[in-house]
Amino acid sequence: MVGNYFPSWRDGPPASGQAWGLGAPGQDGMLTEYAILDAGRVTTIPASLSFEDAACLPCAALTAWSALNGDRPYRRPIGAGAKVLVTGTGGVALFALLLAVADGADVVATTSDEGKIDRIKALGASAVINYRAEPNWGQAAAERFGGFDYVVNAAGPGSLDQAIAAAAPGGEITLMGLYDFADKAPNLIPLMAKGLSIRGTAVGSALALADLIAFVDDRRIKPPIARRFPFADAKDAYREAGSGAVFGKVVIDVARA
Ligand SMILES: NC(=O)c1ccc[n+]([C@@H]2O[C@H](COP(=O)([O-])OP(=O)(O)OC[C@H]3O[C@@H](n4cnc5c(N)ncnc54)[C@H](OP(=O)(O)O)[C@@H]3O)[C@@H](O)[C@H]2O)c1
Repeated sequence: MVGNYFPSWRDGPPASGQAWGLGAPGQDGMLTEYAILDAGRVTTIPASLSFEDAACLPCAALTAWSALNGDRPYRRPIGAGAKVLVTGTGGVALFALLLAVADGADVVATTSDEGKIDRIKALGASAVINYRAEPNWGQAAAERFGGFDYVVNAAGPGSLDQAIAAAAPGGEITLMGLYDFADKAPNLIPLMAKGLSIRGTAVGSALALADLIAFVDDRRIKPPIARRFPFADAKDAYREAGSGAVFGKVVIDVARA
């Protein structure tokens, strides 16, 4: 079993008055050997998935799944040949890369770290742009590779101008990042001119998590785990996860002292 991020979002779009998720203020988290959750707040995992792999799915991977597919009933399941741009190499972006590649999409990624480029390509990205070296990375991506049907903006609202520049006419930008905030509003004229949509994403529903788990199992997608820590070293795990140098998910094994 894995815990569902939100307490009562079972299906469809987010419920109005949605409560906070696991580990948010007022909500216990999952860094514990035993947790008591309502029966409706857990989802079964198949035998093919280890607990470590499954632990990566309820937040980062589900956010990526919702970004690409929308909420149930899925409006725009991503199709083979779709062009996808993912920003950065955090857990959300790497899962968006893996899920989109599994669906036959052509995925371009961005990173600030040249040392990560080979590993990004090994996960299936066709090209990588350094967003620090090229501050106009969205414009550069559109010129180099043509516009993108989906831009998964895990950076934040401050990157919207570049996400808009990267998107193809009729494309969709999904926004979930909280790293990059803007000191001025984005220029929305190109958004109108290209007929783009911006959609916010907040993790996902319980049934979307079940769909994601089935997809990961069916396609034999291996969650990108960077490092595993024993319970006793949980603080080191958090430091590692926040370092910016890590490539993939950091997992804490609560059963290992
Ligand atoms: N709305 C939601 O439902 C939801 C759900 C999950 C996460 N989030 C938020 O989404 C963001 C990504 O989550 P995550 O779990 O993937 O985080 P993460 O694993 O901590 O991501 C870290 C990576 O993000 C990239 N990054 C950091 N600042 C950036 C910037 N200004 N522009 C572009 N990339 C940047 C860097 O990639 P490089 O090292 O390659 O440069 C960094 O290594 C976070 O802000 C998180 O809080 C939102």
